[in-house]
Amino acid sequence: MTTPAQAERSFALTASKIAKSFGESQVLRNIDLDLAPGEVVALLGPSGCGKTTLLRIAAGLLAASSGRMQIAGNRVVDGSGFNAPPEARGIGMVFQDYAIWPHLSVLENVAFPLRMRKLGRNDRETRARRALDRVGLSHLSDRLPGTLSGGQQQRVALSRAIVAEPPLVLFDEPLSNLDRELREGLALEIGTLLRELRLSAIYVTHDQSEAFTIADRVAIMLDGRIAQIDTPERIFSVPASVEVAQFLNIGALIEGRVCRARGFTCNRDRLHLPDLARSAPEGPARILIPRTAIRPAPEGALMAQVLRCQFQGDRYLLHLGLEGDAASLVCPTDRAVALNSQIPLAIDQGRLRVFPH
Ligand SMILES: Nc1ncnc2c1ncn2[C@@H]1O[C@H](COP(=O)(O)OP(=O)(O)OP(=O)(O)O)[C@@H](O)[C@H]1O
Ligand SMILES: [Mg+2]
Repeated sequence: MTTPAQAERSFALTASKIAKSFGESQVLRNIDLDLAPGEVVALLGPSGCGKTTLLRIAAGLLAASSGRMQIAGNRVVDGSGFNAPPEARGIGMVFQDYAIWPHLSVLENVAFPLRMRKLGRNDRETRARRALDRVGLSHLSDRLPGTLSGGQQQRVALSRAIVAEPPLVLFDEPLSNLDRELREGLALEIGTLLRELRLSAIYVTHDQSEAFTIADRVAIMLDGRIAQIDTPERIFSVPASVEVAQFLNIGALIEGRVCRARGFTCNRDRLHLPDLARSAPEGPARILIPRTAIRPAPEGALMAQVLRCQFQGDRYLLHLGLEGDAASLVCPTDRAVALNSQIPLAIDQGRLRVFPH
């Protein structure tokens, strides 16, 4: 039988009821988080929700107010105020502002964590060169960081974070200072690199597509809590709350009512969804209509007015108003549609979600 202590050792990180207050203001509220070895979890949430605070606690740069944390089976935070220093945690870190030493060469920067681990010079150089090679920078090993572009500096920080193949790598918006094209390419590379090396990581970002590119699981963080943690696909198909659906902008939320006899009704009784309400309690509720659940179709049951038709290069995005309802729907289509025209929409009821009030 596995004891709880053995189970904790088999995780890259376990956090249990981590809380943090600054004065009167509580920033983290009982965060529980487990990371399997080799797993990458993205922390996705709006500005100020506590992402950096949680990461700084994991890194040992900030003390938690309460709670426990282990990294690779080693206790780093416990309820009694014990807080292991950053250098004792053996983790890699990549932050937004590169944080590489300006006076050390690229190679010396990357080799730095190995020096801290007291590896011999030859070993350090071989491993640092290998790590630089992985991020495509071996030709720049003798340069000083100040002579590199932002993208190259961030690759140096990345190769320094992975050089010692640590049990956990922490990323805090590492790509937010780079332009969009570079960001997308580097996000893919980071995801591939983490998987090849089987490294565990927590990756903080504002950017949904970056989170979905890199992570096995995404933790949606709202107001100091993890509101949902799951695979990107599951979060989109089964958001845990109205707040998660709103944050991810999954679709339109429409006020209505669940009634045993008639199902879900909304849109001043114009929209009737008899199949939907079987498992929801009777009473007022909101329905989520994801943009993937609707499509313009002649046989459609729901009439909508075209408020905007936005050309997006490879498709059009229709902004639609429902008769009798303030909520607007957005749906992609491959043809332009005249403004203000009324179009029928087919709804895939299997994709709708009901949230009782
Ligand atoms: N040292 C501090 N003293 C007081 N308040 C702090 C301190 N550090 C953070 N906070 C507050 O804690 C809250 C969470 O901050 P945090 O930096 O963790 O947010 P975040 O989710 O990383 O936001 P962003 O996406 O903007 O980086 C914010 O309201 C912030 O003002
Ligand atoms: Mg932050």
